[in-house]
Amino acid sequence: MSSTWLVLGASSAIARAFARAAAAQGADILLAARDLVDAEATAADIAIRTARRAEAVKFDALDEAAQDELVAWAREFAGSGTLNVFLAFGTMPDQAAIDADPSLVAPTVMANFTAAASLLHRLAPVLEAQGTGAVVALGSVAGDRGRLKNYVYGSAKAGLHAYLQGLRARLVRKGVHVVTLKPGFVDTAMTWGLPGLFLVAPPEAVARAALDAAAKKRDVVYAPAFWWGIMTIIRHIPERIFKKLNI
Ligand SMILES: NC(=O)c1ccc[n+]([C@@H]2O[C@H](COP(=O)([O-])OP(=O)(O)OC[C@H]3O[C@@H](n4cnc5c(N)ncnc54)[C@H](OP(=O)(O)O)[C@@H]3O)[C@@H](O)[C@H]2O)c1
Repeated sequence: MSSTWLVLGASSAIARAFARAAAAQGADILLAARDLVDAEATAADIAIRTARRAEAVKFDALDEAAQDELVAWAREFAGSGTLNVFLAFGTMPDQAAIDADPSLVAPTVMANFTAAASLLHRLAPVLEAQGTGAVVALGSVAGDRGRLKNYVYGSAKAGLHAYLQGLRARLVRKGVHVVTLKPGFVDTAMTWGLPGLFLVAPPEAVARAALDAAAKKRDVVYAPAFWWGIMTIIRHIPERIFKKLNI
């Protein structure tokens, strides 16, 4: 049976690497992105390199009215095969910019949490009906603990983590697996030029971890894996100390 990955936020460097790797493993790819030109270029590249079917569709996560149409198109694209979902869209404005302009809070939460949850909620019945498949959604280590320098983005990702836990429990009953992928720092447009980054991973490594997690039906995966250790330490710092740290 054929397998399709719907890649949401396909102009993300991680999503692009994931789409290429998934196609190389034999999947068809439907790339959904705000930047249709970019997604079409990726689709053409994938089709030439892998001879898999790859197409692009315009997608703005904040346009809730367009979500039903996207879901219907994805179902049609997958045909009688399995539809899988890779959710990569997100946005991380600078915390200082958000502090200076509170109107940035709502769009940050919308893009990272509300839009993701409302779209996955529309995809859920389609995935339940097919009785197989996988969802891999990009959370973040930033969602594991609210910190001074990134807490609006982090709290939206924390909400996404909780949503995915519930979705996982719902879909596993119908044979569909949900992976929460929590990257640390990744070398992409989102982190370009940010000071103080360490242990920065290439997008390809995160993409490989995503495919591996879906194949092995893992639930929550840190990428690279050593971030589990780092975040375990960070989560255990007492709040009375953590609140004073300049991180
Ligand atoms: N880079 C890191 O260190 C890191 C760490 C942890 C988690 N993550 C997560 O990994 C995911 C991918 O990020 P990335 O690192 O690959 O950064 P990126 O290249 O900036 O990708 C973010 C993607 O989200 C898309 N997007 C934002 N708002 C959207 C909207 N309203 N509708 C549709 N697409 C929208 C962007 O589209 P445009 O190109 O149109 O802007 C872009 O394709 C994000 O969820 C991010 O939170 C990244």
